[in-house]
Order: sequence, then structure tokens, then C-alpha cells
Amino acid sequence: MPLTLAVEFIEPGVRLITLQRPQALNALTTQLLGELADELNAAQADPDTRAVVLAGSRKAFAAGADIKEMGERNLVGILNDPRQASWQTITHFNKPLIAAVNGFALGGGCELAMHADIIIASEDARFGQPEINLGIMPGAGGTQRLLRAVGKSMAMQMVLTGDPIDARQAQRAGLVSEVTQPELTVERALQIAHNIAGKAPLAVRLAKEALLKAMDTDLASGLRFERHAFTVLAGSRDRDEGIRAFQEKRTPTFIGE
Ligand code: CAA
Repeated sequence: MPLTLAVEFIEPGVRLITLQRPQALNALTTQLLGELADELNAAQADPDTRAVVLAGSRKAFAAGADIKEMGERNLVGILNDPRQASWQTITHFNKPLIAAVNGFALGGGCELAMHADIIIASEDARFGQPEINLGIMPGAGGTQRLLRAVGKSMAMQMVLTGDPIDARQAQRAGLVSEVTQPELTVERALQIAHNIAGKAPLAVRLAKEALLKAMDTDLASGLRFERHAFTVLAGSRDRDEGIRAFQEKRTPTFIGE
């Protein structure tokens, strides 16, 4: 089967992964999720990759799980679903992941965008969890991540009615950090990735982990984790370099140690 995504090394430190099933609005087949998980594993293992941008097409980031494939899977198939392993890999990817969303991000597509650390959306982006219209409900984190991202009332409305929200609503609610013109979405996401790629990799990794902790832990535990992570970084050479570069009024060169 042809590959369902393309990978480009845009510049040192940044990978761009583009979903490529335009004929089905990038609907997430098992193959596509597996290839995405493989690419994220490769990006994680590569010390020269410091941030990843995930994009779709101009019409759709991704229109959800592939409904045709979903229809062929029964209860046992869902219980033994290999997609779970792919979602776990995406969840635990430990480098910055930025979603550049043009057009539809629906169902599993919205859930995929919410696995990213930062979402940049075009003015024409639509975020929704329409599973209720199929007689099902979100199953890749939609009920949990959406509620944390946009609050209870809007999450309930989106999940129970299936109606999408537009990019500006998503930004006001906190789901999206920036809204761009459609032709600039990927470029802006790459700029942010480039910015992050210049920072100290260990600090970025631990800061990401600490921020994600805030989603699922109480304040005291989160603060304890933050303190431990902050302390660990005191042993890094990049911390010495950052402080020295500030004092010498020059740009630091971080090596990831
Ligand atoms: N799965 C499979 N194929 C899909 C698809 C999906 N999720 N979404 C779109 N497609 C296909 C269409 O079947 C169509 O293919 P054909 O040309 O072969 O008929 C092609 O993509 C283009 O789609 P449309 O003609 O429907 O395009 P449109 O512009 O008229 O409508 C849309 C766009 C509103 C996004 C509409 O395609 C749509 O409603 N798609 C389904 C969205 C959805 O319900 N997503 C949730 C899936 S369930 C899920 O995601 C659960 C989970 O992860 C756990």
C-alpha cells in the first residue's frame, strides 16, 4: 500500500510530517496511525530532531477515524485494536509536536490535533467531535482532552451535538494558540518549531513533561515534579552554557547534554 504520509527535514532540527490521504480527507486508517507512530519513534530517536510539525492538506487536517474501516470492526476487533498502540506512541512522544490545522479536524482528527503540544489553526479550520452522529462517542481521548482544553460547557456542547467550532472560537476557548491565513499555517508552525529547536533540548523535554503533568495531577504533585525537573537541569551542560552566554552577551549554543 502507498505511504499515507510524507516526511521532510525542513531545516536542522525540524521535521515536517504531512498526512497524505486527500481522497478521504486524511481519515485515520490503522495504516496511517501506524506510519505516524513509526515516524514519531524515528524522530524521538534522532538527536538532531528537536521539534516536529504535523500537517494535513488545505481542506482537511484529518476528518476522523476512517469510517469505512471502522464499520468493518466488531466489538472484539475494537477490544484488540492495534491502533491503541499507535495512539500510545503519539501520546508519549517526548519532543515538541506542533499541529498545523487547515480545514477539518473532526473526530479522531480533532483528537490527533489535541495530542499535539501546540495547535496553530487557519481561519477556515473547523474542530469537532461528530461521533455522536454515527451513534458512537469519541474514543481517542476526545472527552478528556477536549474538556481540559475548552472547559465543560463547550466540550459537552461539541460532543453531545456533534457540531464543530471554528478557529476563532477554538482560540478563544484555549484549544488553539494562534489563528493564521490558510496559506501561512504550516509556515507559522515551522517558525515556532524552529524557535523551539534552538533551545536546550533537555530543558524543552522536561518543561513539556511538567506542563503535561498539570493535565492529570493535583497541584502539589505537579509542583513537586516541576521542582525535581528544575533540579535535574542544574546538572546539565546546557544550563552552564545558557548562563555563560547571557553573561557574555552572545547567543547560546546548546548541545543537549
Ligand atoms: N472516513 C472515511 N472517509 C471519509 C471520512 C472519514 N472519516 N471523511 C470523509 N471521507 C471521504 C468521503 O467519504 C468522501 O469520499 P468519496 O469521494 O469516495 O465519497 C471524501 O472523503 C470527501 O468527503 P465529502 O465528499 O464528504 O466532503 P465534504 O466536503 O462534502 O464534507 C466532511 C466534509 C463534513 C468532513 C464530511 O466528509 C464528513 O462529515 N466526514 C466524516 C466526519 C466524521 O464523522 N468524523 C468522525 C469519524 S469517527 C471517529 O473519528 C472516532 C474515533 O476516532 C475514535
